[in-house]
Amino acid sequence: MESTLTESAQFTELLLTPPTVVDPPDPQPLRPVDAGVRFERVLFAHGGGPPLFERLDLEIPSGAKIGLVGRSGGGKTTLTRLLLRLMDVDGGRILVGGQDIARLRQSDLRNLIAYVPQEPAMFHRSVRDNIAFARPGATETEILRAARAAHVTEFVESLPAGFDTLVGERGVKLSGGQRQRVALARAILRDAPILLLDEATSALDSESELLVQEALWHLMRDRTALVVAHRLSTVVRMDRLVVLDRGSVLEEGSHRELLQAKGPYARLWHHQSGGFLTDEAAPDTLGAAQHDLKSQPATG
Ligand SMILES: Nc1ncnc2c1ncn2[C@@H]1O[C@H](COP(=O)(O)OP(=O)(O)OP(=O)(O)O)[C@@H](O)[C@H]1O
Ligand SMILES: [Mg+2]
Repeated sequence: MESTLTESAQFTELLLTPPTVVDPPDPQPLRPVDAGVRFERVLFAHGGGPPLFERLDLEIPSGAKIGLVGRSGGGKTTLTRLLLRLMDVDGGRILVGGQDIARLRQSDLRNLIAYVPQEPAMFHRSVRDNIAFARPGATETEILRAARAAHVTEFVESLPAGFDTLVGERGVKLSGGQRQRVALARAILRDAPILLLDEATSALDSESELLVQEALWHLMRDRTALVVAHRLSTVVRMDRLVVLDRGSVLEEGSHRELLQAKGPYARLWHHQSGGFLTDEAAPDTLGAAQHDLKSQPATG
């Protein structure tokens, strides 16, 4: 009885309290789920091959910005695809907001994640359609806002038909940096609590690089972000870097901590060239093999 009384007293108080507090003019969307991600003892092998991940553990607290780095073939893209559940783990589990992703509806899982793949697909449609498909039903204002935030607007203004310009088969009429900005605009439009980005390995001119970085920074704000990072300008600003090699976590820490540790990351860093993290091994031996691996599409 007493508790009922207390509750009704509180309720009355709520009713009587004059509205002295007001909503902020620019309110943030409520994110009811904890958008943390956890890989727990994950086992995985690509179709009948040798195991890539053997008991991989990785924790990404809600709101953290984690950079995944490491040599080509280390398993970075595979990790992103497992989180999207494009493939199932062979053992262990992956949790999002404390829930096993294998027990969620696939559409619910993918609604939580804005995914920017390493080579984003472009359709032979207008620039507008290429952004808009990320969220069916988005208004023109929302599409244009996403385009502006991702610095798509700048280059679109110089195209013959602006946002109605067709991008060509697979987006051939756009430069690499422009395609990446379109892909970031899609992710901004999706407005999902988790951002999963597989940074492209192709080099960008320095202006594109700056604009892509700005768009990325905008996109990561208020989100949990797992970014496969190849560019130095991306890695230095992440909260924590995870160095993945042959399916294992070699080291974790901030850019500064890992440099001080003088371990694999520091070696990767010192082999940097043209603003990119390059393979750790000597270019004449292992590096050459890895370069081949990088230039060949993975086969199943
Ligand atoms: N679909 C597939 N079928 C079989 N093996 C695959 C497949 N995709 C990737 N692999 C293999 O799994 C390993 C990890 O590949 P993954 O693409 O995850 O590496 P990565 O770290 O993303 O490399 P990069 O830096 O070049 O993008 C590699 O040995 C690769 O050859
Ligand atoms: Mg990859």
